[in-house]
Amino acid sequence: MEAIGHNHSFETALADLVDNSIDAEASHVLIRFVRDSGRLRSLYVVDNGQGITPDRINDAMTVGGRRAYAAADLGWFGLGLKAASFSQARQLTLLSQAKDSPAVGRRWSLDNARTRFLCDIVPGYFAASELGQDRGLPGTGSGTIVRWDEVGGFPATDKPEQVEQFISRKISVIADHLGLVFHRILENGRVTIEIDVQDARFDTTSRVRVDPINPFDYHRTGATGFPKDLVATAGDHSLTFRCHVWPPRSTARQFKLGGRPADHQGMYFYRRDRLLQPGGWEGVHVEHPKLQLARVEVEIDSDVEALLRMNPEKSRVQVRPEFGQACASARAEDGTTFDDYFAVAERVYQEGNKRRRVRKPMIRPGRGFTPGLRDTIESEIEALESDPVDLRWRDFDNDQLFDIDRGEQTIWLNKRYRKMLLGDRHAGLNDLPLIKTMLYLLMEDVFQGEYLGPRDKDNIELWKSVLTTAVRAERR
Ligand SMILES: Nc1ncnc2c1ncn2[C@@H]1O[C@H](COP(=O)(O)OP(=O)(O)O)[C@@H](O)[C@H]1O
Ligand SMILES: [Mg+2]
Repeated sequence: MEAIGHNHSFETALADLVDNSIDAEASHVLIRFVRDSGRLRSLYVVDNGQGITPDRINDAMTVGGRRAYAAADLGWFGLGLKAASFSQARQLTLLSQAKDSPAVGRRWSLDNARTRFLCDIVPGYFAASELGQDRGLPGTGSGTIVRWDEVGGFPATDKPEQVEQFISRKISVIADHLGLVFHRILENGRVTIEIDVQDARFDTTSRVRVDPINPFDYHRTGATGFPKDLVATAGDHSLTFRCHVWPPRSTARQFKLGGRPADHQGMYFYRRDRLLQPGGWEGVHVEHPKLQLARVEVEIDSDVEALLRMNPEKSRVQVRPEFGQACASARAEDGTTFDDYFAVAERVYQEGNKRRRVRKPMIRPGRGFTPGLRDTIESEIEALESDPVDLRWRDFDNDQLFDIDRGEQTIWLNKRYRKMLLGDRHAGLNDLPLIKTMLYLLMEDVFQGEYLGPRDKDNIELWKSVLTTAVRAERR
């Protein structure tokens, strides 16, 4: 019991519990830190999935209690719940209710397990009252709570700053990890994952929703012709490597993944839409900064045991010796090999660096632009260390299309043209990206420097006059 789950971190352990909730077809999962008298006491993972019937709950608590798995199930070893829990906590409580069944509960503490290897039965009324609490999950008549107590990683203090700092850091680490691991499942709306803190002293807490973080979500490819599928065969099996090249110098969250760009190159293995491993070349190449734009998507749904298998924590893939040979012989339809792919990724990276260095730095775009547009601009051009330029709408008392406000670092747009330009689209902070981007590209440099020179002033007058005529013509 003490030996299992040693490769887990807090967030990979939680991912294993979320796997179970997803297998149980939960639409909502809530991860809740419970704080009492200042101290963090326990952690709950609550779902509204199918729950566990009284005749199955002992199997669920059994180490290696495997069941029949459906084709799409994330579970496999019959270990996850126990391994994940005891890697982080000394006590595990499982409370569950299946539809039209009584609530049931089991509790296992490591200290008991050592002497008797038996778990305790939690009274049904206690399980029912815990499960009956309203935690804001859509009701389904069934659900499960996994509760951890005596969590090793929780701070042993009630000092508010320390506890709060710990919680906020943990929440962001958890959201980053779960957002990445489950990004496909979150994107297609199968599940919603939220994180909150319950404090005995307050009744309301704000919830953090886990957003998907798709490590392949760039706005345009870094190299034409990519992504490209390279297919490797080994005996009867084949494995497809979808090779991507990110655009250089991206600052997007899904590129940086909370680290340095070079840290996340390599293979991304997915099993049943769940990401097992974010990056690493598995011996096909060595990690190197010049390959930072290379990311490869690999599905291991089919039977590929001959080439690789996953570790019980489902956090890594272990490749077999045959894997390297298979990669060496992998080809795309047009004949591209892994070596060709590496050469392209390296060239794009180096040219991106060169090109960026000769471009004149610009002030970053701020409010008014969609985040994707900001990412693209920031990946193309070095940003100056000054406040960003915003593009916003306001009422004008004249017909001019725009005005420049250097004090506010803002290009103001005249609201009287907004409806007309939008047509039947909705107004919003980031509306009309094309017009805004063109204005930004045209005018960004008048925001640079201490004063407006006579030439800048004259340009602004020129643009105002010409563009205002243009927008009037468009309205007519
Ligand atoms: N949140 C949950 N909802 C419903 N059933 C669960 C849940 N968590 C665990 N179980 C049950 O407990 C069993 C054991 O879980 P686990 O130890 O993670 O192994 P595995 O997922 O590989 O089967 C699962 O197969 C499932 O039947
Ligand atoms: Mg499991």
